[in-house]
Amino acid sequence: MSKRILSCMQPTNRLQLGNYLGALRNWVNLQDEAATECLYGVVDLHAITVPHDAQALRNATRETAAAYIAAGVDPKRSYIFAQSAVPAHSQLSWLFMTQTPMGWLNRMTQFKEKAGKNKEKASLGLYGYPVLMAADILVYKATHVPVGDDQKQHLELARDIAQSFNQKYCDGEEFFPLPDPVITGEATRVMSLRDGTQKMSKSAESDMTRINLTDDADVIANKFKKAKTDALPIPANDAEGAGRAEAMNLIGIYAALNDQSKEQVMNQFGGQQFSALKTALSNLAVAKLGPITARMNDLMSDPTEIDKILAAGAEKANALASPTLDDVMTRMGFWLR
Ligand code: AMP
Ligand code: TRP
Repeated sequence: MSKRILSCMQPTNRLQLGNYLGALRNWVNLQDEAATECLYGVVDLHAITVPHDAQALRNATRETAAAYIAAGVDPKRSYIFAQSAVPAHSQLSWLFMTQTPMGWLNRMTQFKEKAGKNKEKASLGLYGYPVLMAADILVYKATHVPVGDDQKQHLELARDIAQSFNQKYCDGEEFFPLPDPVITGEATRVMSLRDGTQKMSKSAESDMTRINLTDDADVIANKFKKAKTDALPIPANDAEGAGRAEAMNLIGIYAALNDQSKEQVMNQFGGQQFSALKTALSNLAVAKLGPITARMNDLMSDPTEIDKILAAGAEKANALASPTLDDVMTRMGFWLR
């Protein structure tokens, strides 16, 4: 195996278009590459770093796994598992916590965004979250991590942790490969439909800011119709699009959904009114997301199937993760186990 792919999503609320275009779609494509082994986790332990409801978490964990499968992750070729079913993640995370300077975590911009104004009330778990993420990746010695652009900084931290462990406990030998981020496509950072300066997010207050993977055709059409644009015609090139975040966001979404470049989309729609692009975008999104939604609903109607897939995935993930944890513990001086 030359490549080991690992990526994860949090089971918080429903998946949105940014999750799909920024990450999930690339996960599916990576399965087709030769000599790759793919592991896709539902990181339920990450989901409890902010206030959560137990029953909602249970459902969301299943629903997130269903979304992976509905989007094309094939449980026969990839391992799908819940993070909490593989204890080595948390165990390695603690070991890493003790080796990670607070200064590295203080630089993480996502903590600042998520903690908001009231940093004192944010949990220690939210602060340490990127260390758990590093453990998620390194416990499998993953080589490639397909994510959206917002995870770049967390990936750099994982690389720093890997490098520091290699130096401290392995005489500089590459015990942990340094994981490469895979951030590809025309929509690595999908923005809110209402504010081009904000990322599209499943936890944003207003549902009108995002397209959920479970939205039906009418809801999708209405959200694109009401999406914020500006008074100028659709830009025909990058220069005309400069400083027009909302316009470029819709163009990026169209390009990604239609497997085109932004340039091609601007060539086609440049100079027209936004209503033309919005109508085309709604039709395209319904055509691409509709089958995913239908398959998801299907899967959710019989959770035993998903539960079986998660159990098989966890078994394999545990088998891969345990030897790494064991090795790390030995190198750090533990022997009573
Ligand atoms: P999360 O919803 O935070 O668990 O994110 C799961 C994956 O989706 C990560 O790889 C993110 O980088 C990606 N992602 C989330 N929101 C967006 C977005 N608005 N644009 C592109 N990728 C995103
Ligand atoms: N932090 C990621 C996010 O919010 C989710 C995540 C947790 C992840 N562990 C990971 C992504 C490991 C890639 C690899 O989107």
